[in-house]
Amino acid sequence: MELGLFQKLVGGLKNMKHKMGVVQDIPLLQTTCDIWDKIQNFQAREDDILIASFPKAGSMWVQEIMDLILLNGDIKKSMRAPCFLKVPFIDLNAAPLPSGVEAANGMESPRIIKTHLPLQLIPPSFWEKNVKVIYVARNAKDSMVSYFYFQKMNKMLPDPGTWNEYFSKFLAGNVPWGSWFDHVIGWWRAKDKHQILFVFYEDMIEDPKREIRKISQFLGKELTEEVLDIIQHHTSFDIMKENPMANLSTLPSFVIDQSISPFIRKGKVGDWRNHFLVVQNALFDEEYMKKMKGVGLNFRNEL
Ligand code: A3P
Repeated sequence: MELGLFQKLVGGLKNMKHKMGVVQDIPLLQTTCDIWDKIQNFQAREDDILIASFPKAGSMWVQEIMDLILLNGDIKKSMRAPCFLKVPFIDLNAAPLPSGVEAANGMESPRIIKTHLPLQLIPPSFWEKNVKVIYVARNAKDSMVSYFYFQKMNKMLPDPGTWNEYFSKFLAGNVPWGSWFDHVIGWWRAKDKHQILFVFYEDMIEDPKREIRKISQFLGKELTEEVLDIIQHHTSFDIMKENPMANLSTLPSFVIDQSISPFIRKGKVGDWRNHFLVVQNALFDEEYMKKMKGVGLNFRNEL
């Protein structure tokens, strides 16, 4: 869809309500539940690439990187549309806009498709077509902080309440798309059964070029050092923050209110230290140990 048409249609979201629903015990937006059959029956294609993550793991950052990899680093082409129009979000249903499924159906291949669904809710055709998946993972503490600000400013999502209230909700998995723990564990356990590449936000911050190379090799693209440098530069925090195709500034403030918090906000590992109380940190670590014991999945809460 053209940006102009999108901007006309998006006005219809002015009076949206953010009710929550449930699918197989996972809290999802009610509008997603309303079209659940359509989402489940979505027809993947063999050359699709799925980008999956729990919210706020750095999905948009990796989407921009993937798009540029497919374009061999052509910045001009990557600026053809906002990221949310280039990469349909199959969970999303926000009438009068086309749903993510409808947007993807109308798209030429190769498609990059985004989801926040936990593994068990992924439309089966992705597995039948043996689609490559990039799963972006970020440590839980920073994910929680980032999601708190996102729920404050994204008017499609329920208000998070106070930080203290949100802390308990997040830990209990009582946020849209459910439990961070179940999400990362579910995908981690499936990674050797399907073509799934795990990309960690902390690794991307540490050495973006190394991770961009890893992603491009997984996608079967050998890029020159020069192209890798171009992609790294164009997707750096400071450039993406100013890029209207990536920073969501094309969305009106009644959908995304960036006066409350910018979408591309801090981009750091360890911002949780500015938010977690000592007692919350202890509670969190205790719960983390219980849930993640023996999983074999290691996150870095600081670099
Ligand atoms: P913070 O809120 O901690 O700053 P998602 O795209 O999955 O919604 O994730 C958003 C998070 O990724 C935000 O985290 C955002 O700032 C961060 N992010 C986006 N682009 C980035 C970039 N180029 N470099 C580092 N972090 C980035």
